[in-house]
Amino acid sequence: MINKSRIVKIIKTKQETPTIKSLFFYDDEASKSNPGQFLMIWIPGIDEIPISVSSTQPPGITVRRVGEATDALCSLEKGDKIGIKGPFGNGFTITGKKVLVVGGGVGVAVLLPLITSLVENLRNVTVILGAKTKKELLLREQIMKKVGVDRLIMCTDDGSSGLKKMASDQATEMIEKNDFDQIYTCGPEKMMHKIFEVAEKRSIPLQATLERYMKCGFGLCGSCCIGSFLVCKDGPILDSNRLKEVMDEFGKLHRNSSGKIEEI
Ligand SMILES: Cc1cc2nc3c(=O)[nH]c(=O)nc-3n(C[C@H](O)[C@H](O)[C@H](O)COP(=O)(O)OP(=O)(O)OC[C@H]3O[C@@H](n4cnc5c(N)ncnc54)[C@H](O)[C@@H]3O)c2cc1C
Ligand code: FES
Repeated sequence: MINKSRIVKIIKTKQETPTIKSLFFYDDEASKSNPGQFLMIWIPGIDEIPISVSSTQPPGITVRRVGEATDALCSLEKGDKIGIKGPFGNGFTITGKKVLVVGGGVGVAVLLPLITSLVENLRNVTVILGAKTKKELLLREQIMKKVGVDRLIMCTDDGSSGLKKMASDQATEMIEKNDFDQIYTCGPEKMMHKIFEVAEKRSIPLQATLERYMKCGFGLCGSCCIGSFLVCKDGPILDSNRLKEVMDEFGKLHRNSSGKIEEI
């Protein structure tokens, strides 16, 4: 049943950064997720929230503490239980020969299964990771193992690791100088919007992961709409053609928990 949570026991946790924690569990359906798909995670007595699948063997999620539900998730340890539904959403389409992947903040988590799949499919992959500080650079060791040290460019706002610049500025430079034929991005929406504009100038197709407020997670409540799309069903990955249809909202506006439109 699509709307019934499966109760799973946490088998392992990993504190990835001071504010981000990964939780792992066994679940057959989650282990078959495609890169980019998400689960609705039920924290008993608190809330149910959308979280991307960050690994499949075993299935795992990677969570940044931002409010009540994520705080509760980040406090869980081995042996605690959560409810899960899904996987939901469309996931990334694996395409292109020479691809650029750009991730910022906790958005990097959803890119790890994508990078794994791209490398397995023998694509030429370059990754740019951005974070405020060295401590907040997520999953860099795992990504370095997949793509190699020369193909991973790290950017921090304070220069504590890698280049002292925004990931979007580094992406702009590299898109202008190289002949990438596909770009993938997940992170702050203003960063993805900037990268989309540069990609459009060079006619390079892009796939971006959008976040909108979600209640049901599978197309019933309408709370996650952007233009005529439902992010839970038509997304969370929107490609360049779809992004062009929602330019009034992409990078600018979203709906809050009561459905009111707000600036991002
Ligand atoms: C498809 C998708 C995938 C996501 N993947 C991840 C992930 O892998 N890791 C991660 O840490 N976070 C992820 N998020 C964001 C995560 O769902 C929110 O941070 C979380 O719901 C906040 O809940 P809270 O109670 O901790 O915070 P709150 O106090 O409720 O809110 C904090 C912020 O989160 C936003 N938010 C609250 N509830 C939701 C909701 N149901 N849907 C979307 N945004 C919400 C609020 O607008 C606010 O800006 C994802 C969101 C979506 C839509
Ligand atoms: S979350 Fe209900 S329609 Fe998308």
